[in-house]
Amino acid sequence: MKSKNRILFFLGVLILLFSNYSYAQIQIQDLTCEHLTNPLAIDVLEPRLSWQLAGDERGIEQTAYQVVVASTREKLNHNEGDLWNSGKVESDQSINVVYDGVELKSKMDCFWKVKVWTNKGESTWSESANWSIGLLFYNEWWGRWIGFDRPFPWDDNSFHSRLSARYLRKEFEVKKPIKQAKVYLMGLGLYELYFNGQKIGDQVLAPVPTDYDENVKYNVFDVTDQLKSGDNAVGIILGNGRYYTMRQHYKPYKIKNFGFPKLMFHMEIEYEDGTKAYVLSNNSWKGTADGPILSNNEYDGEEYDARKEMPGWNKVGFDDKDWLEPEYVQVPNGTFEAQMTPNMKVMESIKPVSVTMIGEDRYILDLGQNIAGWMKMTVQGDAGDTVQLRFAEVLQDNGELFTANLRDAKATDIYILKGGEKETWEPRFVYHGFQFVEITGYPGVPTVDDFVGQVVYDEMETTGTFETSNPIINQVFKNSYWGIRGNYKGMPVDCPQRNERQPWLGDRSTGCYGESFIFGNEMLYSKWLDDIGYSQKENGAISDVVPNFWRYYSDNMTWPGTYLMVADMLHRQYADVRPIKEHYQSIKKWMDYMKDRYMNEDYIVTQDRYGDWCVPPVTIEAGRGKSADKKHPRELISTAYYYYYLGLMEKFALLSGKGSDVAEFRDLAQHIKEGFNRKFYLTEKAGYGENILTDNLLALQMGLVPEENHEAVFSTIVDIILNRNNGHLSTGLIGTQWLMRALTENGRADIAYQLATNTTYPSWGYMIENGATAIWELWNGNTAAPHMNSYNHVMMLGDLIIWDYEHLAGIKSSTENSGFKEIVMKPEFVEGLNFVNASYQSVYGEISSEWQKDRSTIEWKLTVPANTKAKVYIPAKSATDITESGVELFQANGVNYLYQEGARALLEVGSGEYYFQFKR
Ligand code: BGC
Repeated sequence: MKSKNRILFFLGVLILLFSNYSYAQIQIQDLTCEHLTNPLAIDVLEPRLSWQLAGDERGIEQTAYQVVVASTREKLNHNEGDLWNSGKVESDQSINVVYDGVELKSKMDCFWKVKVWTNKGESTWSESANWSIGLLFYNEWWGRWIGFDRPFPWDDNSFHSRLSARYLRKEFEVKKPIKQAKVYLMGLGLYELYFNGQKIGDQVLAPVPTDYDENVKYNVFDVTDQLKSGDNAVGIILGNGRYYTMRQHYKPYKIKNFGFPKLMFHMEIEYEDGTKAYVLSNNSWKGTADGPILSNNEYDGEEYDARKEMPGWNKVGFDDKDWLEPEYVQVPNGTFEAQMTPNMKVMESIKPVSVTMIGEDRYILDLGQNIAGWMKMTVQGDAGDTVQLRFAEVLQDNGELFTANLRDAKATDIYILKGGEKETWEPRFVYHGFQFVEITGYPGVPTVDDFVGQVVYDEMETTGTFETSNPIINQVFKNSYWGIRGNYKGMPVDCPQRNERQPWLGDRSTGCYGESFIFGNEMLYSKWLDDIGYSQKENGAISDVVPNFWRYYSDNMTWPGTYLMVADMLHRQYADVRPIKEHYQSIKKWMDYMKDRYMNEDYIVTQDRYGDWCVPPVTIEAGRGKSADKKHPRELISTAYYYYYLGLMEKFALLSGKGSDVAEFRDLAQHIKEGFNRKFYLTEKAGYGENILTDNLLALQMGLVPEENHEAVFSTIVDIILNRNNGHLSTGLIGTQWLMRALTENGRADIAYQLATNTTYPSWGYMIENGATAIWELWNGNTAAPHMNSYNHVMMLGDLIIWDYEHLAGIKSSTENSGFKEIVMKPEFVEGLNFVNASYQSVYGEISSEWQKDRSTIEWKLTVPANTKAKVYIPAKSATDITESGVELFQANGVNYLYQEGARALLEVGSGEYYFQFKR
């Protein structure tokens, strides 16, 4: 370079550097309180505030923050933090910053904003956000519980628990200009709320289900804009949900019923002049159970007679003289809590693929996808015409619905037309798991344009995308996506179709972790963790189903142990330590309970119930027509898990400030490890227990195998898969949770890849080959006996989704700096795959990883969010084999070469987008 040019060049670089520094744009976005966006009611008095940083520069790190919280928007605008002004706090913490201001009280509104300082400049103040506190105390609910604690003559409280919906209404006057009006509502089992004829909110099937004997969730709405001066009307419809539960007389000792639908309503109107008015539930309301919803039952469906509609019932001026005075009813036993997890919503609407006539006046509608939700229908006909919709997941060979796997769930909606104009209807208080609908009684010929499939699940962000060059992996991922969302129903249920739909714990122990890559499920699982805590008996026992609508206290190890696994997931994926602290004592109580009752003097835990639930029959023929619900309890499983849980307890103790408990856990773990090896290790086979895949996987992944046997046991695992199983898995619900990671972490990602892409039985691909659009309950779901054979269960996903993200895409949180504060990016560039494109919205922002390879090179583009770091593993012999954005690694901006780790170069990068190229 000539010297003049050189000077110009350096000047340019200087200007660039300087301008970058001084004009660095650091934005703050996504402000949340208790992980919710502007929540209208929380009942947490030390809420945690989080925000995300963004900016174009690489390597952005927060060095300090300042949070201001004010009691009014105006004060906040003037930076007047009358509730809290943190001042400038030197810290890199940008999530879960605990509010530390004026004591929070019921109904308080809090407005907040934040600014940050970073190594790349400072931000301006963020946009403002807010949260409000709910009603903290029982005596702040001034209304009374109202409803009708009895069936009506047309109800049928026998097997199918048919009960008509209850309608309640009240008119009231707004006398002065309103500043704000808020409704606090508990409507059990399910409610729909209307003001002046207009539905409030887009939630459906609200509130989320709980064990109402333990706690009842209330919802809060700001209805300022829905009220008008003068007369107003509020109307509420109550459905059964799980309060007046399904099959309540079937096995009363097992199935929990709570009573008849009821509500508590508390509305506070704050006038602009500072005075207040209240509208409260009491016997000045009017009610009827003689409306159009004749019956609503989650298993059996909804029946609606449009001729019985009561136009204007939720508006002012309706003549309710024939309505009844509601009764003061039995108050639910549970405590009242603000609902901190979003309600369900119609999250997607899909058009049917076809409607085919299969008989006189009988049609089969195909949605093309197994969903959980319902159909919205448009129809025109005469008053009294009756359309019946029956739902099923699959068809029989003769084209008829296959309903045997629904057991006795009728899964049937009935709509009776009022006649005349076009009528559009969808049910309110039920959902179905289905792909096919049999339509009968439809006036005229139904077409795909008359129906819409409504996909219903908890309102949450889809946080993950994932695509590879392999179509089977992609389709299994897509099926998982559908399966997971279908089974989120304010709690994670096992299946959405048959007469079950219960939140079985074991199905989600590892599942919740994999799911968290695809969905922002933090609040759902935090709520579930609380539910699990509520299910604990005085003696420490925990139910296998939680909320325990089915009471199963079987003292099983692996189902209740999900308590620990969910707590761990929330910490690992979301850096949320509070659930661990809050549940530590109850978890420990359960651990002690299991130890005291079931650990023998040889340190073997003797109690298990389900074994490796639903292992695949050896061949598809061997399982044909057979029931899958055989239980094979195994001491190896309960002992291995207890050992694994002790490891978690150690971690939980440290995180909860209970370090003094650690020694006890370690000591016991050591004894168990010895006892386990004494009892189960088969020296001559280098395997454990029955020397089956699950037994060896558990021993290995849970750290029970002594170092010196490690390699041999792993060889046994490989041998079982490749030789005994001819390249297939042979694991059920338990073993599959450890399978993919065990193979990959021990150097055989190629075998994991083989399992992930298999299409022969048993495999995920086999399900796809046989028409699955979600994930089956059973590996042999197409031939097993129907009563245990759901086509939409997620338990067999095991650790597959975790493997997709952590090992194929290389998006994993480090365990030390959880919640993706430090990201471990170590993809397996497996033979057979040409590309992987994945992204994940972490609590810090988007992480992405996109790699592709040709014969000689691999290109890898990745994104690391601000205020995090990533350890990046590149399979290259030395740093000189790698370039980043076209420049040699050592010249690359923001890339720090650490050292070689085996065949991989280990780099550290800060936030930003990077583009690596290296030779294969
Ligand atoms: C459920 C499973 C559950 C199992 C345990 C089945 O009926 O559908 O998902 O975990 O029972 O017994």
